[in-house]
Amino acid sequence: MSEQGVWTKVAELDEIPEEGVLGIETDDETPVVLVRSEGEIFAMRDECSHAEVRLSEGEVEDGTIECWLHGSCFDLRSGAPINPPATKPVPTYDVKIDGDDVFVSLDEKNS
Ligand code: FES
Repeated sequence: MSEQGVWTKVAELDEIPEEGVLGIETDDETPVVLVRSEGEIFAMRDECSHAEVRLSEGEVEDGTIECWLHGSCFDLRSGAPINPPATKPVPTYDVKIDGDDVFVSLDEKNS
């Protein structure tokens, strides 16, 4: 089993729409975007790796989230960019659901 950090409660499950996003800020001011896609919840840093804009203002499609500014899509599992202009991954975080509560571990999985 992989090493896990401290879990932080960040939202209630029903705050995250189907095939939609919820942008939040944790207590340590980390911007996090929670994404619900195909029945799963994903978490990644709410900041494009190309320029400092919020990914939570983009669209969710086919397991990716699209940056609204220049159109790079990022894989929800790996944070990897699928298309330019972004070339670097966005940090992703482990998610845990407990009842109606959504927790994230802010140790970056892919840094
Ligand atoms: S700012 Fe996101 S792709 Fe350029």
